[in-house]
Amino acid sequence: MSHPGSREGGQPEILTPLLRQRESVMIYDRSHVLSPAALRAILEAARWAPSAGNSQPWGFIVGRRGDATHAAIVEVLSAANQVWAPAASAIILTLHQVATDEDHEIAYSDYAMFDLGQAVAHITVQARSMGLQVRQFGGFDHAAAARRFAVPAHWAVTTGIALGLPATHGEEWDVPGWLQARSRLPRTRLPLSAFVHAETFGHPADFLDD
Ligand SMILES: Cc1cc2nc3c(=O)[nH]c(=O)nc-3n(C[C@H](O)[C@H](O)[C@H](O)COP(=O)(O)O)c2cc1C
Repeated sequence: MSHPGSREGGQPEILTPLLRQRESVMIYDRSHVLSPAALRAILEAARWAPSAGNSQPWGFIVGRRGDATHAAIVEVLSAANQVWAPAASAIILTLHQVATDEDHEIAYSDYAMFDLGQAVAHITVQARSMGLQVRQFGGFDHAAAARRFAVPAHWAVTTGIALGLPATHGEEWDVPGWLQARSRLPRTRLPLSAFVHAETFGHPADFLDD
């Protein structure tokens, strides 16, 4: 999808390098091994995300390539995601709590999915600071994942995260042409004026004019 005013190519110089260099990588180095210490550091970043009332309504099912959890997550991925995600050093399913532990009829927090998203953003930035990249995904069988991992009814399986070391140019494994092409597509974004409002919704803020 392309929009007028959208920028193609890299990120603007104004951003901190951690954000400027972040992108959702699809082709990973499948020989890279993520150490337990590195994985703990990345999950620690999620732990310290802000959340409504400090509710911390997130959960993560974590598989490292080669272990049973990683293999079980791969089994529930969509066909397209099964092509690229298995090469990632870790695959993580994210969860958010939808009802209280005591009474599954009572909503846990209006902001649980929002808070999970912030925790995942922390993961993304922490991973980048360690030379790694992630690609988040929604393309998997959520019900099958909930069954396979015995997720309680008051938790919702939400998204997936592939995490790993990007394959360096020339070391890219034998990936299908469509994946090569897709991973080289220009990255585009809406202009600020499309989503930064002042006075009333839809009225672009005047500080955008400079
Ligand atoms: C909630 C969510 C679901 C996504 N689902 C998929 C997916 O199933 N498969 C995939 O290849 N990428 C998926 N993506 C990655 C997006 O396509 C990607 O973030 C977007 O194109 C912007 O690219 P960038 O992150 O490199 O800026 C998903 C991202 C998010 C945040």
